[in-house]
Amino acid sequence: MFGVCYYPEHWPQAQWEQDAQMMSELGLTYVRIGEFAWSRLEPNPGEFDFTWLDQAILTLNNAGLKVVICTPTATPPKWLIDQHPEILPVDPNTGATRGFGSRRHYDFSSVQYLQQSLRIIRVLALRYGSHNGIVGWQTDNELCCHDTALSGSNNARSAFQAWCSDQYSSIEKLNTDWGNVFWSMEYRNFTEIELPILAVTETSPAHRLAYRRFSSDQVVNYHTLMVAEIRQHAPDQFITHNFIPMNETAVDNFALAAPLDFTSYDNYPLGRTDLMLTGAPAEQLHRYMRTGHPDFATYYHDQTRGLLNRGFWVMEQQPGPVNWANNNPRPAPGMIRFWTLEAFAHGADCVCYFRWRQAPFAQEQMHAGLLRPDNSKTEAWPEAEKAMADISQLDITNQSSQTASVAIITGVEGLWVSDIEKQGEAYDFNSVQFSYYSALRELGVNVDFISVHADFSPYALIIAPSLPIIDSTFVEKCESSSAQFIFGPRAGAKTSEFGFPATLPPGLLQALVPIRVLSVETLREDCTEGLNWNGDHYESCRWREQLNAGDTEVIAQYANGEAAIVRSSRFTYLGTLTNRAFLLDFLQRQCEDIGITIYRFGEDIRVSQRGTLIFAFNYSEQEQSLPLSSDVEILLGNKIIQSHGITVWQTSD
Ligand code: GAL
Repeated sequence: MFGVCYYPEHWPQAQWEQDAQMMSELGLTYVRIGEFAWSRLEPNPGEFDFTWLDQAILTLNNAGLKVVICTPTATPPKWLIDQHPEILPVDPNTGATRGFGSRRHYDFSSVQYLQQSLRIIRVLALRYGSHNGIVGWQTDNELCCHDTALSGSNNARSAFQAWCSDQYSSIEKLNTDWGNVFWSMEYRNFTEIELPILAVTETSPAHRLAYRRFSSDQVVNYHTLMVAEIRQHAPDQFITHNFIPMNETAVDNFALAAPLDFTSYDNYPLGRTDLMLTGAPAEQLHRYMRTGHPDFATYYHDQTRGLLNRGFWVMEQQPGPVNWANNNPRPAPGMIRFWTLEAFAHGADCVCYFRWRQAPFAQEQMHAGLLRPDNSKTEAWPEAEKAMADISQLDITNQSSQTASVAIITGVEGLWVSDIEKQGEAYDFNSVQFSYYSALRELGVNVDFISVHADFSPYALIIAPSLPIIDSTFVEKCESSSAQFIFGPRAGAKTSEFGFPATLPPGLLQALVPIRVLSVETLREDCTEGLNWNGDHYESCRWREQLNAGDTEVIAQYANGEAAIVRSSRFTYLGTLTNRAFLLDFLQRQCEDIGITIYRFGEDIRVSQRGTLIFAFNYSEQEQSLPLSSDVEILLGNKIIQSHGITVWQTSD
């Protein structure tokens, strides 16, 4: 299924009918509207204008299109900010109030804003909650985008004090848990507690961890109440949200997703590639600047699918150059179709293009759409048509999106720990997690992202690249599962209050891997050392632990012969970060040992499976020959896969 993001309020009403007609002719089913329209829905306090929205919905419905309506809460209007300036958030890095004039200018700790949001949502949901032409809702828009999860406001400070008083039975307990005796940081009561911001130097890591937990809870609380309000008046319409990845928001997306029917993601592979490869050598960026890095889009598709472990939507799909990265190239010919099929291969149920027509005004006037401002069709148009034909030929949405036998355990606490205690500048939660994901994908292995609370039983191999805080329930779950486990360095290295485990790291994990981490060194990214495994030489880098290997089996050594990777029954522990070459060979061996099929078809070919369909995607500028046996039933494309082409075949089993 396909859709588009449309802003009727940006265009003269006389144009709507033709727009709707063209959408329908293109083959679209869904139109998302309304996420930034508060100033048109309520131009003055309490004075609503729904005539234009009613008419827009009717026009779209008359053309056979179904509408997804959004809460307009990402953009509180000027009159509301003037009435209640305390809605504005405060930048925790500078202490300056973030102003009106763009979007997301609200504080998750503002009770006033929560009430105002629920008020506008109630009015909208009462009006449209049983409307036949509205199929569902999107809450807000990209919660916490533009670094808005944390606020340093007075509202946030009081709410944090109340949160602390709920979490810690007494101020003495809080002082002990945070280690406040160090540097005379002790508090006498909860109302003395500060936010850990704007201090002279480092604040206590436990204090910062609490602030992250609190801030995440504030976002989740705001969103959960919003969903409940919609549900109450729109029980038969779906509710989704277009998520910003957890590694950017530092909010618990699993908790945020819990009350939704399904999750959504906004897919901008080129913008993301440009930003993520900012410091990379030019050759690396140049190679992928018009295709996106082979693993960036799917990294987020797989994480979005994992939040509820079911099909998801791409709510916004890049159709051409965007306006917000450092550099904004045009996609290579064919990439709109390519990204669309890739999303479906990774479990999408619907892809919506952003946006219908390029706006000739305001912030995003350099952002492409399916149409140019003069109404001519961009290159994305025929590519979207082709993608729709392919998807219908493959009947893909009837294929299951649950096919992975390998899972990566993810979670926001690992990110918080790596942000709060850098120790070495080259240790970064996201790049550690991504390196495992990317290696698995280069091996053609499907990956699920799961939380520690997930059911482990579908998986043969479970990898925790960065899991510093664990509890005994997790350890028991690992013990009773039959999967193989791989833990990256730092696993179990912190208590839940950011302390050092009494028995040394990996703390509670010692029940599975009886080792002791004696010391940790961090090295500059380009200062690598030797790692010997399986008779070959690889690199140990960035984060290196000195291990007392106890009775475990040492399976790889540092150059000086000391233990670097150890195994105890089904549990493997890596005491070091390493590079792509090692992860590829090592993970290939782990997969082969337990019978997981590998498709290692080269650096720029990615193989993905959905149900009984197997897809190969060629990210390179050259055609490639796929090593498929002659009896394989090819459904789309060819054994010779074109540059930026796709080949799909049927599994034999
Ligand atoms: C998304 C956002 C849209 C639009 C788009 C531009 O992140 O949800 O509203 O700004 O980026 O690429």
